[in-house]
Amino acid sequence: MDFDPEQLRNESEVESKLIAQFLLPALGYGPNDWHQEVALGNIRLDFLAFAIQHQPFVIDGESPLSLTIEAKSPRKSLDGFERRLQQYLSLLHARYGVLTNGRDFRIYCLQDRDLILIFRCTGREIAGKLATIRSTIGREALRNRPHLSEEPTAVAPAIAINPQPSNQLRDKTMKIIAIYHNKGGVGKTTVTINLAAGLRNLGHRVLLIDLDSQANSTFAAGLVKFQFEEDDDLKDCNVSHMLASRDEYPIEQVVRQSQGFNSPEIDVIPSHINLIEKQYKLDSIAASRSRLLGKLRRVTDRYDYVIIDTPPSRNFYAQVGVISSQYLIIPSDLKPFANQGLSNVSSFLQEANEYREDKNLAPCKLLGVLPSKIATNARFLKSTFPKQKAAIANIHHLPLLDSIIYERIALSKSLNNTEEDGDCDIPAPQSIFEFAKSDVSANSSASEFEALIHEVVKKTQ
Ligand SMILES: Nc1ncnc2c1ncn2[C@@H]1O[C@H](COP(=O)(O)OP(=O)(O)O)[C@@H](O)[C@H]1O
Ligand SMILES: [Mg+2]
Repeated sequence: MDFDPEQLRNESEVESKLIAQFLLPALGYGPNDWHQEVALGNIRLDFLAFAIQHQPFVIDGESPLSLTIEAKSPRKSLDGFERRLQQYLSLLHARYGVLTNGRDFRIYCLQDRDLILIFRCTGREIAGKLATIRSTIGREALRNRPHLSEEPTAVAPAIAINPQPSNQLRDKTMKIIAIYHNKGGVGKTTVTINLAAGLRNLGHRVLLIDLDSQANSTFAAGLVKFQFEEDDDLKDCNVSHMLASRDEYPIEQVVRQSQGFNSPEIDVIPSHINLIEKQYKLDSIAASRSRLLGKLRRVTDRYDYVIIDTPPSRNFYAQVGVISSQYLIIPSDLKPFANQGLSNVSSFLQEANEYREDKNLAPCKLLGVLPSKIATNARFLKSTFPKQKAAIANIHHLPLLDSIIYERIALSKSLNNTEEDGDCDIPAPQSIFEFAKSDVSANSSASEFEALIHEVVKKTQ
């Protein structure tokens, strides 16, 4: 090696100097045996290397895919990426994955869906340990080893490499989840947008619906980049238009793609400040309450998850949000005011469920109260927090989610991110996952959201 892997400056140098120019050739992979920046459904892999090459390559039960390599910036710890690697490997039915940031080099193996670390060394040690690395993930070694999908436990549906979402993730029904609390500032919008982004990162097709006239989710998704009123392109086509008519403004007409928010981006039904002035009229027409339900019914084969952000009130839009949903998450900072509001939320849910029952719909199920914006101070976490959590069960008789979203500056920084445009800075909000790609301080929040997403996926199955 004529360079020091521990001196690599950024992700792109790790990719080019360490992986493409040194590691892959040293492991016996020729230029035709590996691919960089591969889009596989919604997954973006840094490197895919094949022990046996077929053209065009299709990943199925006979998959020749053997190795995925993910390169990270030297500034990032690899710990936060293990879960994603595990997901990639299980989705692709690949057995081996490498994670490296130049300083830390790790080889993982997937066994019964568990990610096992089988080899680790520093960047400087790679050259000296090449024989060992080659015997594990070298091209010759893999050619002579049965592929994961040939083993009896593996079930590998075929997915072809193309930019469309993979069918593999399509399970049965679209899930509709409302995020609601009648108190403001408890983290509803922060939870909504990052839950939506994280589900999308797992390959699910996600629709985010903003029902709050403050349009914070719409802003977060990068849809409010205009500086002047005359450039406002949301005013005449937003969620209120969908609620104002049964047949006009179907979802496909109103939906936008988020902009610079996440990769992959998500679908968004935007809100607008003019929801306030439209509320009175919509509220006076009984049918407008069920219109979102009706329109969602027409896209059940197009989305896996619909996540609805709601206003901090019991108003018409909040009612529409909860009566249209099969599941409810209540973010709460667990402080006295938020807790006192919980009995309101419970009665609000009951009323929404009366409505759903009248429409022959199963009740909206409360997934739980989600502790959100929780201080990380050790004394608080030891003494006060357990009592606050106990009060949710004992006093309010509500279930708690296991996941916790801590109060972390990175969450507000990701939303307030800007980019230069000529002389001025324009808003460039990002999901916590996108933000974490360039700022290590976001890793804890990203992992906490990943845990939440897994809990939500599990509890809505
Ligand atoms: N976990 C968190 N850590 C730090 N700041 C947060 C967190 N959750 C929300 N915030 C910040 O608190 C404010 C209110 O959050 P928001 O998600 O908009 O709440 P809501 O939608 O309930 O009104 C925002 O400025 C947001 O950036
Ligand atoms: Mg909000």
